[in-house]
Parts: sequence; structure tokens; C-alpha cells
Amino acid sequence: MLDKIRALLDEISVVSATTREEVEELRIRYISKKGVINQLFSEFKEVHPDLKKEVGKALNDLKNAAQDKINALKEAFEAGADGQAGLDLTRPGDSVHLGTRHPLAIVRNRIIDIFGRLGFTVSEGPEIEDDWHVFSALNFAPEHPARDMQDTFFIEKNPDVLLRTHTSSVQIRVMEHTQPPIRAIFPGRVFRNEAISARSHCIFHQVEGLYVDENVSFADLKQTLLYFAKELFGENTKIRLRPSYFPFTEPSAEMDVSCSICGGKGCNLCKYTGWLEILGCGMIDPNVLEACNIDSHKYTGFAFGMGIERITMLLYGIKDIRLYFENDVRFLRQFESAI
Ligand code: DAH
Repeated sequence: MLDKIRALLDEISVVSATTREEVEELRIRYISKKGVINQLFSEFKEVHPDLKKEVGKALNDLKNAAQDKINALKEAFEAGADGQAGLDLTRPGDSVHLGTRHPLAIVRNRIIDIFGRLGFTVSEGPEIEDDWHVFSALNFAPEHPARDMQDTFFIEKNPDVLLRTHTSSVQIRVMEHTQPPIRAIFPGRVFRNEAISARSHCIFHQVEGLYVDENVSFADLKQTLLYFAKELFGENTKIRLRPSYFPFTEPSAEMDVSCSICGGKGCNLCKYTGWLEILGCGMIDPNVLEACNIDSHKYTGFAFGMGIERITMLLYGIKDIRLYFENDVRFLRQFESAI
């Protein structure tokens, strides 16, 4: 009898349960009316009178130990404790929230990917710049209005320390250090002293592109941009180049894509023109090549620059540029399934 009691005591000290049902099974097995301990109590009358005292005490200890153990296991479940006993493997799991990329990052990555397939590498330049890289080397005349305080953020009243107003500055930094062939794009953040509204912001993002080599022509520019537009907006997209002016390109153009909503028929988005403007481009002005010590008689090149906010607005039908910067999860969660 004493051996049986000791064996049961050992057993009870190590038992565990992973569900409430298992605790209940243990309760029935050990301490219910028909449980093994009660069984021993009913055999107690057969114990030799000399041993009754010792066996009786051991039996009572066993009963208390079993009761304590069952109570402890029950408590663990009720408190929802994390211990082994509280682990309910049948409980449905918590749903996992997918992280989201910011829509501007999604579109920037797509642009990088498309030009990557054409052999364009990626470089970045500093956001805090000097006059030379943002204006002078890009052929801006000394009195050009873009240098005006109204457009440009200058730092500490020093006109030679400023926040770049466009990523064209990275063209200069790359051409200063690399001889052609150069084929690269430059994504980055730019700053302009503009009032914040639904359509404009003082901080935004651009991707600049540059291709310099022997015999690069306007036809190369056009084909590159046509491929890009089809990849980004869809196979049926058409492009149109309108003559324009930028100090650093000659000739210069602005590129429109056929409206992605109405396909060119005319709708609200394209203001019934059938076209959406997405970038500026042109053949690099020889003055710019010479400013970077690139022989403009030997080499020609094209450049282009686009705003990521605007393209993202067109792709996703976003109507207010401020949404990009507010970090409202209700806005950001809508991009959960995008890559
Ligand atoms: N830097 C121009 C802007 O911010 C965009 C641009 C236009 C870039 C024409 C170019 C270009 O490289 O050729 O508006």
C-alpha cells in the first residue's frame, strides 16, 4: 500500500495538462469518487492495524497533494498564464498583419526596376547642396528666377548652402566623377519653398535619369521613355512630347502619357484632354557636359526628371498630396497587398 501511495505521489508531482479537458481528466482519475485515491481509501480497512497510522497519514498527504495539483492546473488556465499548463494549442491563432510599403516607395521601386531592365544603375546624392550643383553647372543664368528665395530653401542665410530643389543636381555629381558611357537614374527627396495644398508640398520626391555616350540621339530618348511609360501604365499607353524649356537641356520637352483612366477619350482626371503630363526631358546642353569636363564634341546625352508623387497619384487615384506625409494608417493599409 505504501509503495502504491509513493508511486502515485511521484506521478502527480510531474503530471501536466495542455487543455482544460486534460485537467478535468486528471481530476477524475485522481480525486473523483471513483478515482484511484478513493479506491485506496476503500482498501484502507484491510491495512494491518500496526500500519494504519503511517498509511493513513500517507494517504491523506497524497489526497492533499493531488487536490493542490489539480487546483494549480485549473488556476493556470483561468489566469490565462503563459506557463505550460496555460498553453491551449487548440486556440485559434491571432491573425498576422502584413506590413505595408509606402505608396511612394512602391512606385519608386517600380521605376528603378523598369530602368534597371534597360541597364540603368542607381545613384544618390546629398539633399543639402551648393549653388554649383543645383543651378550653375546646370546652366541656370545668374538671375534665373528658380534661384529666388521664394523657391529655394537656403540654409543660414548663406546662398551657397541650400536644399536641392531637384534631383538634376545628382547628374552633375555623377558626371564630375565618371566619364561616359553613363546610364543611371537618381531617385531622391527634393525641397521647394511652396505653400502646402492638395496639389503641392514643400517636400517631394523625384527620379532623374541620365544617359551619356557617343551618338546618343533624341530617338533614343523617345524609345526609352516609351518603353518606360508602357511598363508603368500598361501596354496600350501612348506618349507625346511637347516642346518646352529647361536651362540644362536643348532641345527640351515635356512628356505626356495617354490618360490611364479614359485611354485618351477624355475624362475628369485628364481634364478632357486625353493626356497626362508626367515628366520633363531633353538632350543635355553642351554647356552642362563641359561644366563636368565631358567632351561635348565627342559625347551627347539625354536626361529626364519626374515627380514620384504625381505619378503615384495617377496610378492609384490619390487626390491629395498631403496624404503621403500624414502617416494615417487608414491610408497606408490600403497598400498592404502591393509589393
Ligand atoms: N529638374 C526638372 C524639375 O525639377 C525636371 C527635369 C526636366 C529634369 C528636364 C531633367 C530634364 O533632367 O531634362 O522640374
